[in-house]
Amino acid sequence: MGVDPKNSSLNPAKDNKSKVEELPENIFVPEEPKFSLDDIILPHKVKDEILDVATYAENSHLVFEIWGFKKTHKFSKRIGINLYGAPGTGKTMAAHAIAKNLGRKILVVNYADVESKYVGETPKNLRKVFDAGKNTNSILFFDEADAILSKRVTNMTQAVDVSVNQTRSVMLMLMNEYQDFIIFATNFIENFDPAFMRRISMHVKFELPDLECRRQLWKMYIPNELPNNINVDKLAEDYEGISGSDISNAMLNAAFKAARQNANALDELLVREAIENILASKAANSPKKIQRKEISEGEFLKATK
Ligand SMILES: Nc1ncnc2c1ncn2[C@@H]1O[C@H](COP(=O)(O)OP(=O)(O)OP(=O)(O)O)[C@@H](O)[C@H]1O
Ligand SMILES: [Mg+2]
Repeated sequence: MGVDPKNSSLNPAKDNKSKVEELPENIFVPEEPKFSLDDIILPHKVKDEILDVATYAENSHLVFEIWGFKKTHKFSKRIGINLYGAPGTGKTMAAHAIAKNLGRKILVVNYADVESKYVGETPKNLRKVFDAGKNTNSILFFDEADAILSKRVTNMTQAVDVSVNQTRSVMLMLMNEYQDFIIFATNFIENFDPAFMRRISMHVKFELPDLECRRQLWKMYIPNELPNNINVDKLAEDYEGISGSDISNAMLNAAFKAARQNANALDELLVREAIENILASKAANSPKKIQRKEISEGEFLKATK
């Protein structure tokens, strides 16, 4: 019996088509925001900036309709917000909190979700993202946005570079047409293309927590039920340069260690050990600083003679 070539998996045209269409239609589904503003510990200035954004919806009727900005700023309902700064400082949390404050669902987009190895497919997926945002009235949130907003490739020699640029151009166009909130988050704002920077109206910088924020973070991540001898003030003072995420992880790691040791209470020493481990792994992970050799004036004069 002969095999119908149209139905055969050996038919390359059919195989290729099914691969190109491999992105499930329902991959871009909005979710209920996971965090609210009360969950995030931030310096006043940053919290204020987030609040400005978060209260935008309440004020937009006043600004656009009553104060007449809908005539002078016709295409300004698109508000691009970029949350940038150190890892683990609450950017993703803040995006959720903004959506929650606006009473909207959030559609989280990671570049990996839209990227396709098939030329021309990534821009199509991007369109699907924007359509999904519109159709579901949710807030678009591009997490790790540098992957998609970084500078366009200027030295185009490869088909892949051409396709990267094509993706960026489509993204610019979709952003221009979109008349709603878009939130971006990144650790690498320096990689953003200026064309995208111009289209983002607010940039909020997230820094590592200061002493007061660290104190509040330690308090926040020690459950009331936990028997412990932890001196929050001392911990906050002793460890700077750590993020909210480090503090949350250290507490959990220490708690599991105490549980494994059948301890009745969590000893501060275990928390210190956990934080030291995190700091050591971060140090090992950061690129080596370039050693600069100091030269004396004499050496300098000799070398430049
Ligand atoms: N400012 C903060 N207040 C309260 N918790 C925080 C804060 N920052 C970080 N955390 C804790 O760390 C976790 C990770 O934070 P989040 O994902 O928001 O960081 P991020 O800035 O998006 O990091 P990345 O740049 O790596 O994506 C949170 O779920 C929370 O448990
Ligand atoms: Mg994040």
